[in-house]
Amino acid sequence: MVRVKMMAAALTGLLAVSALAGCGDKGDDTGSGGGGDGKLVLGFSQVGAESGWRTANTKSIQDAATAAGYELKFSDAQGKQEKQIEAIRSFITQKVDVIAFSPVVTSGWDAVLKEAKDADIPVILTDRAVDSQDKTLYKTFLGSDFVKEGKEAGNWLVKQYEGKTDPVNVVELQGTVGAAPAIDRQKGFAEAIATNPNIKIVKSQSGNFTRAEGKTVMEGILQSTPKIDVLYAHNDDMGLGAIEAIEAAGKKPGTDIKIITVDAVKDGMTALSEGKINFIVECSPLLGPQLMDLAKKVKAGDTVDQRILTVETTFTQEQAKAALPDRKY
Ligand code: AHR
Repeated sequence: MVRVKMMAAALTGLLAVSALAGCGDKGDDTGSGGGGDGKLVLGFSQVGAESGWRTANTKSIQDAATAAGYELKFSDAQGKQEKQIEAIRSFITQKVDVIAFSPVVTSGWDAVLKEAKDADIPVILTDRAVDSQDKTLYKTFLGSDFVKEGKEAGNWLVKQYEGKTDPVNVVELQGTVGAAPAIDRQKGFAEAIATNPNIKIVKSQSGNFTRAEGKTVMEGILQSTPKIDVLYAHNDDMGLGAIEAIEAAGKKPGTDIKIITVDAVKDGMTALSEGKINFIVECSPLLGPQLMDLAKKVKAGDTVDQRILTVETTFTQEQAKAALPDRKY
């Protein structure tokens, strides 16, 4: 009798241990994914930490995942496409429920996206697009219209020089070569300024979306370009770096050289309110809550729109002063 009781106790213990082990499991043998505790598991591959915008975007995604009760597997690609591909492959191996990523550059994604599709893991693009022709490789693309952002910047500039005949020399600081926001912001701006033949881009160089490169590239341009009327930087950080270079060269940013940037992060908005930047086109990094909602839907097999646009605005100096006290990032 005692022996039977001991065996029953041992069996109960064994069952309890295996139940606990199951709790920590990622997915199951059927390949259906999901946390063993029922949490949605989201694998997210981020571009890196190149700008204030990116930092705010990462925080938005991390905070929203916590609020939604998801398990977030976050990976920082440090600006390298090969690291993103590696991360996505690792998410596939781990059988996460949903993969989301913000692609460093537009091209070169077909193979890894096909691997995710074959593994039945839905993919969501956030912030930046890919140039894949097969649109079934991802469920949706959530982010800004970068061409429109470039156009807004160009339209503002065209307005400033309306009715004037003097040539206007523009320097453009591009984002990362091959990245969607760099390609599209260049395109939209060029289209808008084409309406005024006096406005010409005299130098266009990449500052890789970082403050440090914005500064060094602008230092070189200031030395090689005798007359600069306007600087158009594809993001605030490069603009802020360029401002340091302009001031070091003894010029007044915002007055001697008009400055237009994109993003509207706090540092950019502060420079705008101080008159060092003249106009900012907003690009919202707060994609986290929408991404969590989409992840839930695609996991459930619901149909979602192929393209979801972010709502954005533009800021003049006066508007920046009014918006700054409530600016979250
Ligand atoms: O893809 C969005 C862009 O990437 C932001 O405008 C820029 O600041 C960031 O690095």
